[in-house]
Amino acid sequence: MQEDIKITIIDRDGVSHIVDAPTDMAMNLMEVVRAFELAAEGTIGICGGMAMCASCQCYVLSEHELPEMQDDEEAMLSEAFYVKDNSRLGCQIQMKPEIEGLEVELAPES
Ligand code: FES
Repeated sequence: MQEDIKITIIDRDGVSHIVDAPTDMAMNLMEVVRAFELAAEGTIGICGGMAMCASCQCYVLSEHELPEMQDDEEAMLSEAFYVKDNSRLGCQIQMKPEIEGLEVELAPES
């Protein structure tokens, strides 16, 4: 069984949370934020993780090499608000041992 990994998530109020995320449950970052209730219900994960709503947008603050964006993620981020160079869709970031120590900040609600 895989170990949990520690992820730092800065919520939309600027409060930093260090959470233990399981790597053996096929969870993505959006689901982790929901599981730990770090964003108000109904403000994140609206499309259910299909890269179609951008409600899970976050800014990657640490230097981790994340998997390349797929076309649907890139397309969604090209239309979303508050996009920065380090924006990613949380639902497209899978919890894997390689991202131990990842630090992200949730983008504002749009
Ligand atoms: S949950 Fe909709 S794009 Fe990630």
